Amino acid sequence: MSVNKDIKRITTHTIQSMKDNGEKISMLTSYDFSMARIVDDAGIDIILVGDSASNVMAGHETTLPITLDQMIYHAQGVVRAAKRCLVVVDIPFGSYQGNSRIALDSAIRIMKESGAHAVKMEGGSEIQESITRILSAGIPVMGHLGLTPQSIYKFGTYTVRAKETLEAQKLKEDAKLLESLGCFSIVLEKIPAKLATEVAIDLHIPVIGIGAGGGVDGQVLVVHDMLGINNEFQPRFLRKYLNLYESIKGAVGEYIQDVKSNDFPNEKEQY
Ligand code: KIV
Repeated sequence: MSVNKDIKRITTHTIQSMKDNGEKISMLTSYDFSMARIVDDAGIDIILVGDSASNVMAGHETTLPITLDQMIYHAQGVVRAAKRCLVVVDIPFGSYQGNSRIALDSAIRIMKESGAHAVKMEGGSEIQESITRILSAGIPVMGHLGLTPQSIYKFGTYTVRAKETLEAQKLKEDAKLLESLGCFSIVLEKIPAKLATEVAIDLHIPVIGIGAGGGVDGQVLVVHDMLGINNEFQPRFLRKYLNLYESIKGAVGEYIQDVKSNDFPNEKEQY
């Protein structure tokens, strides 16, 4: 199916009608103006300003250190670039758990200071109060269940989640809860494909997967991973569309050679 370029601006309603019409939803992360401009021009449906910026942009081991101010900075550049897609921003760790007033303040700051269209939050029943409060301010919320990287120190590993019956049951209940609270969509990360398909069939709202198989309503990847900028990360679910690490390294190597040999700049490349 080709990209419908007639759509002026993708909204949460467009995303819902894609599910209703059986059209798969495409989502990628971006964290800056230049990348977001390319991704939006290509026709992506949703850009996620993920807190994976903590890993791929800042080089942290986990997503925990990134701050609300830093997420807003990343989101501002993306929003300036995005003419067509829906822009969703992760509320970072420590800015919504355990206190719904803080959660609301964080979501309002993201919306007001970046101009983004929605926020994403990790967790189910534990953060119910925060989700409800944010939704009551008119801010669309995308949920995130399964492997939730902000809880990595509780899980202890980045392995597949919800393989056991009890955890799978809790995930199904949480997905139903998020839908009933009013979330417009849910991300399911790194869970068995069969479970993710069951959740997608059970819910009316779109379910977007990462490492959750093809039976869901859409897919999301970290843009640096699918472009092969980061050559150390190779989980089973990742399809690499380019090897930008090697391309960029090669180009930089050529530039260095050209400078050292005085081949650059040539006659035409000067004033
Ligand atoms: O931060 C992120 O990039 C994410 C995706 C992996 C869904 O949450």
